[in-house]
Amino acid sequence: MFVVVGVTGGIAAYKTVQLVRLLVKAGHEVHVVPTDDALRFVGLPTWEAISRHPVTTSVHDDVARVRHVSLGQSADLVIVAPATANTLAKMTAGIAEDLLGTTLLATTAPVVVAPAMHTEMWRHPATVHNMAVLRERGVIVVGPEDGELTGGDSGPGRMSEPEVVLAAALAAVGASAPGDLAGLRVVVSAGGTREPIDPVRFIGNRSSGRQGIAVALAAADRGADVVLVAAHVEEGVLAEASVRPSVRIVSAGTAEELGTVMAAEAASADVVVMAAAVADYRVAEVSPLKRSKDAAPEGGITLDLVENPDILAGLVRGRRGGQTIVGFAAETPGEGETLLDRGRRKAARKGTDLLAVNEVGWARGFESPDNAVTVIDAAGEVVAARRGSKRDVAEALWDAVLAVRPDQQLTQSRANPK
Ligand code: CTP
Repeated sequence: MFVVVGVTGGIAAYKTVQLVRLLVKAGHEVHVVPTDDALRFVGLPTWEAISRHPVTTSVHDDVARVRHVSLGQSADLVIVAPATANTLAKMTAGIAEDLLGTTLLATTAPVVVAPAMHTEMWRHPATVHNMAVLRERGVIVVGPEDGELTGGDSGPGRMSEPEVVLAAALAAVGASAPGDLAGLRVVVSAGGTREPIDPVRFIGNRSSGRQGIAVALAAADRGADVVLVAAHVEEGVLAEASVRPSVRIVSAGTAEELGTVMAAEAASADVVVMAAAVADYRVAEVSPLKRSKDAAPEGGITLDLVENPDILAGLVRGRRGGQTIVGFAAETPGEGETLLDRGRRKAARKGTDLLAVNEVGWARGFESPDNAVTVIDAAGEVVAARRGSKRDVAEALWDAVLAVRPDQQLTQSRANPK
C-alpha cells in the first residue's frame, strides 16, 4: 500500500517515527510529508532513513514529477500524526500552502488524523467546529487520549500510541496488520475424544481443549486461516474461537470421526497440529441399548477394547509436499527414562516435524490455564521450551513452526518414517 504520513509540529512527532517504522516493517511504501514546524521536533534525515524515501516539506522540490499533487493522487491512505490544532484548522479551510496541504487536497484516499494538543486547544470552539467539519467529510479521527501532557498538565490531548493509530488506519482501508502466519492454512485439533460404551456412557480423558484452542487462536491472530477440529472441549472454552471470522470450527466426537475429519482437512493445509488427546482404544462392541446391571455378571464386567488408528502417524504418511506436522505428547515421568527421551522416541515413531512434550500428572497440565512444554524437532533436538500461559506456549510453538518451515524439504524418509 502507498501510504503518506503527514507530520505536523508537535512534540508527539517522536511517536510518529515508530508509526512509520511499523508501516515500513509491514511492507508498505511510506512517504513522509512533514511541515516545516515538524522538522523542529524530528529532523529530515530521521524521516528519510526510516521511510527509505526522500522527504521534503516544499511544493517547489521535485517539481518535474508534480510532487505537490502526485503524492496525494498515488496514496491509498493518508495519515496525519500528530495533527496540531493549526493543521486541523488548515485542513478544514482547505489551505494548501505547503506539500502536506496540497497532498491533502489532491487525495481521494481515506484520511486518518491523530490530533495532539493541549486540552484547552482541543476544547476551543474553533477546534470543536473544525473536528465536526472534518468528521462530516469522512476524516477518521483517532484520539486524542486523556493523560499527562507536555506541560505537566493533564486531560484529553495526548496523541494515541502508534500501534493504535496504525490499527485504526489499516481498519480505515479494510486491511489489518499482516501477521507472520498470513497466507498459511492451518488445521488444529483440540480437546479429547469420547469413545462410546453405550448410549449414555463413554471412555474419555481429562483434556479441556484449552491448549489446542490457544494454538488455534494464536495462529488466527498471526494471520493464518484456521480450521479448529474440536473433539470434546470444556464448556465455555470454545466460545472465543467461535466468534473469529478466520477460524472455522468442525466437531468430531470419537477418534474415528476425528481421524476422518483430520485427513480431509489436512489435504489442503500447510501446517497440521494434533493437540487433541485421542483415545488409544475404543470399545469393541458399543451397546445400542443402555447396559444394565441386571444383564451383567455378578462382581463386575469386562469391556473388550480395540486399538484406534494413530491419526498423527497417518497424517505424516499421507502428508502433502511442504506440510509441517506438529504433535503433542503428554507424558508422565517413567522409570529410568527422562521425559525428553520418551518424547524423542515418540517423535521418531510418529515422524513429526515438531513434538511439544509436556509433563502431566493428576494436578499438572490438564484443566489449568498454564502449561510447560519442550518442543523437539524431527532430529530430537530441543528447539523451544516455554513455561507460562497456554497462549504463551502456543506462541512459542508457532515461532518454532516458522523456524523449521523455510528449510523444510519433504523427503521420502520423513514422509514414510516406517
Ligand atoms: N495421537 C493420534 N492418534 C492416536 C493417539 C495419539 O493422533 N490414536 C496423537 C495425539 O494427538 C498427540 C500425539 O499423537 O499429538 C501423541 O499422543 P500420545 O497420547 O502422547 O501418544 P500415543 O501414541 O497414544 O502413545 P502412548 O499413549 O503410548 O504414550
